[in-house]
Amino acid sequence: MRGILFMALQDFLESGLEPGGLWEPAAVAAGLQGREYDPEEEYPDEEMEQLILAAARMTRGSREKILESFGRHIAPGLLDMGASLGLLQEGWTTLDLVEHLNTALHPAVMPEVEESPGIRTLRLSLGEVAIAYFSKRRMCFFLKGLLQGFADHFAQPLVIREPVCQIQGAPFCRISVILDDPELLRRIDIPREFGRIAREKEELKFFNQLRGAPVAFSGWVVSFTADEVVVHCHPDQIAAMLDEGRTTIAAPHMALGMIAAVKEATPSQGQAVLHRLVLADGPVGRRENDRVAPHRPVIVQCLVDERSIKGELINISTGGVSFRLAGEDVLDDSLLFANVSGELTLHFVGERKGDKGGSGAGGIRWMEAGELIGPQRVVFGGNLLELQDDGNRPMARVVFSRMDPSSRRIVDHYVHQRLVEAQSGPGESR
Ligand code: HEM
Repeated sequence: MRGILFMALQDFLESGLEPGGLWEPAAVAAGLQGREYDPEEEYPDEEMEQLILAAARMTRGSREKILESFGRHIAPGLLDMGASLGLLQEGWTTLDLVEHLNTALHPAVMPEVEESPGIRTLRLSLGEVAIAYFSKRRMCFFLKGLLQGFADHFAQPLVIREPVCQIQGAPFCRISVILDDPELLRRIDIPREFGRIAREKEELKFFNQLRGAPVAFSGWVVSFTADEVVVHCHPDQIAAMLDEGRTTIAAPHMALGMIAAVKEATPSQGQAVLHRLVLADGPVGRRENDRVAPHRPVIVQCLVDERSIKGELINISTGGVSFRLAGEDVLDDSLLFANVSGELTLHFVGERKGDKGGSGAGGIRWMEAGELIGPQRVVFGGNLLELQDDGNRPMARVVFSRMDPSSRRIVDHYVHQRLVEAQSGPGESR
């Protein structure tokens, strides 16, 4: 461990605890009397452990309590360090720091290692980030203290949950950090969500009522700023938006719908400016991440942290895939949240044996414009969200983070088609 952390501990034991002035006695008790630390040098982890245990004995507290207070104490100093190195972006708060830990923060302060060993993080939504901590230093309480310290700094209440913990004997800790603020939880980060919608050319669906009748057309994003979004849609939809003064929106990558107020709207041009966007209470327009099972075996091929694995698709949604590992492939918990890149081929109607030119159960079937037929290759990027072993073969769930527009369209169509089939009964299933 780097000297900088020992120096921070010295500062904490001198002044950050009641009673203060504990550095000298703790160093004596740890057998480290007179030891000096250089911020850039590496020192044995055991020395940190002995100092923490000595401080715990002296304050009649626990190792965990000391680590937590230590983390809370040094959070402002780490923020200063991050800011002086130009690592922090304007507007970042705790969840953004955690999200960018392994991309922007730790690699810059620990240049000799590419990725901070022992911590992986994954932003699950605007209001929640998940952490997997499996450092041999077993300092999850330091991590939770840091989070509290950041939350104090940004005056942003957080709920921190740790359902699985190393200290309780688990191989790693799983920590969720959630904004404890209903207002903020409902807020939508427009550049983040609409940046993705624009990049992946996602089709939006709008929901309104016009004189009591539901109106729901698809549309797309023309442009956006941090506060508003310009959308293009059918003139009837825009007229209904204008009439209601608001609209509900479903975006394929979002589990929850969005509600937006209409700032301006020109039905004749099929254009509206929307603002004051918040998350809806639930999914809208059946766009929730329904998981659908394939109608025939589908092989999923993935690269997880440069390890090649293969599995059979269990289900797929617009947000991710679950598959059962094949052969001898294994994945262990240390790969939680790891980057995944993969591919699979989905089969659309028209490809069945005996089918001719896309006709359905023996009869003629009209194809709709843009409908997909035959095998379609999907390429995805994502993160390993879950690993389960039900005694059969291990199952993995990958949450999508990157997908090119054509793969996105294939997955959307496939999920939609399977849902329609499920609703129309087993006779229709393919
Ligand atoms: C604000 C920017 C940050 C800076 C400048 C920073 C810097 C550092 C430094 C210099 C160390 C000592 C590394 C060593 O001994 O080799 C460290 C350790 C650590 N940091 Fe950060 N950090 C930042 C943000 C965070 C955040 C947001 C988290 C938590 C989610 C975090 C969690 C940790 C943990 C748990 C350790 C102990 C390492 C271990 O268990 O092996 N840090 N950090």
